[in-house]
Amino acid sequence: MNGFMPVQASTWAAQVDWINWLITVIAIFCTVAVTGVMLYFAVKHRRKSDKDETPYITHNTSLETVWTVIPTIIVIYMFYYGTVVYREMRTPPANSIEINVSGYSWGWNFEYPNGKVSAAELVVPLGQPVRLIMRSQDVIHSFFVPALRIKEDVLGNIYTYLWFNPIVLGDFHIFCAEYCGMGHSGMLGTLKVVTPEQYQDYLVDKKPAGAVELPPLELGKKLFSDTGCKTCHSIDGTASIGPTLKGVFGHKVELVSGETVDADENYLHESLVNPAAKIVKGFQPVMPPQAGLSEKDLAGLIAYIKSLSEG
Ligand code: CUA
Repeated sequence: MNGFMPVQASTWAAQVDWINWLITVIAIFCTVAVTGVMLYFAVKHRRKSDKDETPYITHNTSLETVWTVIPTIIVIYMFYYGTVVYREMRTPPANSIEINVSGYSWGWNFEYPNGKVSAAELVVPLGQPVRLIMRSQDVIHSFFVPALRIKEDVLGNIYTYLWFNPIVLGDFHIFCAEYCGMGHSGMLGTLKVVTPEQYQDYLVDKKPAGAVELPPLELGKKLFSDTGCKTCHSIDGTASIGPTLKGVFGHKVELVSGETVDADENYLHESLVNPAAKIVKGFQPVMPPQAGLSEKDLAGLIAYIKSLSEG
């Protein structure tokens, strides 16, 4: 049945799946058994003539004992097993790596213990406990990694926590599991589980281990699709939550203030770092500052936006 579920990438994923399947199978069994017997009896013992009388049956002690004791044992087992796993999931080990998670409409930023920040991609070392300290910059989001079997709401006024110990190398989906507005379905991220050596390189190098140095245009194109820009900005000329980026560079842009500005490199840079500074006419100031991006990343995105005004 495991082909139906995501990879079991955390220490407790197999336990979570076991109790989940157990409860599902028991629920299906009980539903089918109870309705099945009910339908069977309704047909078998239906009133066949006007003279039929309902027999007087008081009880059956052994039958009642069996259907009380067996379900009680099963339910206590479910509760016990669920409690043990839940306790483990809520008790991070003292040696956990602490990573700050910041959710916003619509994306994720991560900050590592040494101050490194990344956008949309969470890199963690294999086999080491990681504790996530999560907060939202705006509305309620929910951090969900199916492969780890973890999910927790991310709120604006308090920190919420998750922890996990990844046991499988590879890339896994991060979803937002709380409907948070138009860009909700695009609020995606990638969990990258790497070796401890690659993790150290990642922290120091400020770029993923083994990553090829991309030219600015390619880097910008990749960031554009990886970090969630595309959720709000089209590249084909249609307006969405944000203005389209096609044909912006090198042209005049009208702002809500009534001013007109030239869309040059400095304008694009400012609009990425401090989006509220110049709001384009006809749009809401909803874009969050792109804190997770380095100057190199910003230059890449600017190069990409420029390319959308060519040809
Ligand atoms: Cu954030 Cu849905």
